[in-house]
Amino acid sequence: MEHNILVVGGNGLVGKTIIRILKSRNPHLNIFVGGRKGGQTEKELKIDVTNPGTFSVIIDKKIDLIILSVNDKEDHILRFAIENKIDYLDITKPTPDLVKAYSVAKNRNIQSRIVFSSGWMGGIVNGLVKTLSEKTTDIQEVELFVYYSVKDLAGESSAHFMAENVAKPFIRYENNRQVPIKHFLDSENYNFSFGIGTREVYNFDVPDLYILNQIEKVPSVSVKMTYNSKFITWLLGAFQKMRIFNILSLKERRMIFGSSGKGDQSVFEIVVRTNGKIKKLSLQSTKGQAELTALSAVLHTEELLNNSHENNVYFSHQLHQPSLLLEKLKSYGTINIS
Ligand SMILES: NC(=O)c1ccc[n+]([C@@H]2O[C@H](COP(=O)([O-])OP(=O)(O)OC[C@H]3O[C@@H](n4cnc5c(N)ncnc54)[C@H](OP(=O)(O)O)[C@@H]3O)[C@@H](O)[C@H]2O)c1
Repeated sequence: MEHNILVVGGNGLVGKTIIRILKSRNPHLNIFVGGRKGGQTEKELKIDVTNPGTFSVIIDKKIDLIILSVNDKEDHILRFAIENKIDYLDITKPTPDLVKAYSVAKNRNIQSRIVFSSGWMGGIVNGLVKTLSEKTTDIQEVELFVYYSVKDLAGESSAHFMAENVAKPFIRYENNRQVPIKHFLDSENYNFSFGIGTREVYNFDVPDLYILNQIEKVPSVSVKMTYNSKFITWLLGAFQKMRIFNILSLKERRMIFGSSGKGDQSVFEIVVRTNGKIKKLSLQSTKGQAELTALSAVLHTEELLNNSHENNVYFSHQLHQPSLLLEKLKSYGTINIS
């Protein structure tokens, strides 16, 4: 069967990486790129997510699957995919946008596969959580610890999330109680693997908080992060304590979070507590966050293409058999898992 796949935001850092990995593993696929400018070849389509008038080309090119890799605040692409029965995979939504998009999708008649993979690193964490416990119902607590290097490559769109949300409270879950917290507060020490050592980690909002508690029913979920620079991590905490983010403009906050380096490792660790036992999984992407996010998107895409998943709304981990997902990640050259 022929598959026409469109990556909207395909000229961006993550979108380009998705296309590279997808092509190298599946050379038979027809891959189209969507962006605001369009291009010289018939594979480069002019699509602006803020203007549904530009979407008719998606029908003309008989697209079977849309991968969304640029922020689409109004969910125009999601609605278009649902209305036109096109498969849809979305790596872009921060928690508030994910909750909104999920409620749009679950209240509609769905005749394609609608997949939200906006969790940390393209929605890969929750599948890995399931490798640490046979039954999710046995899990009492999941903690995610993220090591983020400011030297890593970061696209402009990724930085916008932090700039927009840094001063807003978000929710972590403690025995199913919603605890409002803010980024960069409540520090604690955490000892990272891969030679990183002990770091101060701070509150961090990723959609896995919502997905693990509200969808997977894990009673306690928290996420904390640290930057590679101890000074930057401390400074952001100090800014939050002094409420400096509240008085800075969005433009100024974008300047703070908008920097991109030349590339560095990205690491996260999952700690799962089940009936008094603690299990831990550590993952390192030596090529950084964009590579891992893109690989996750590719693994979800391959699931949609190669296995029969009925038309429905999914969170990406629900597509995978956890042990197979773990094997696929382990066999990728730039990923180490312990
Ligand atoms: N789930 C995760 O773990 C994870 C991790 C990293 C990133 N992300 C998300 O992935 C998305 C892409 O991140 P990125 O780092 O690749 O950002 P990026 O480099 O800024 O790429 C976004 C691309 O989208 C295109 N674009 C911008 N506005 C558009 C519009 N209105 N309509 C159509 N295309 C538009 C731009 O290309 P043109 O100039 O050609 O239009 C740009 O190259 C972001 O939403 C980010 O939050 C998720």
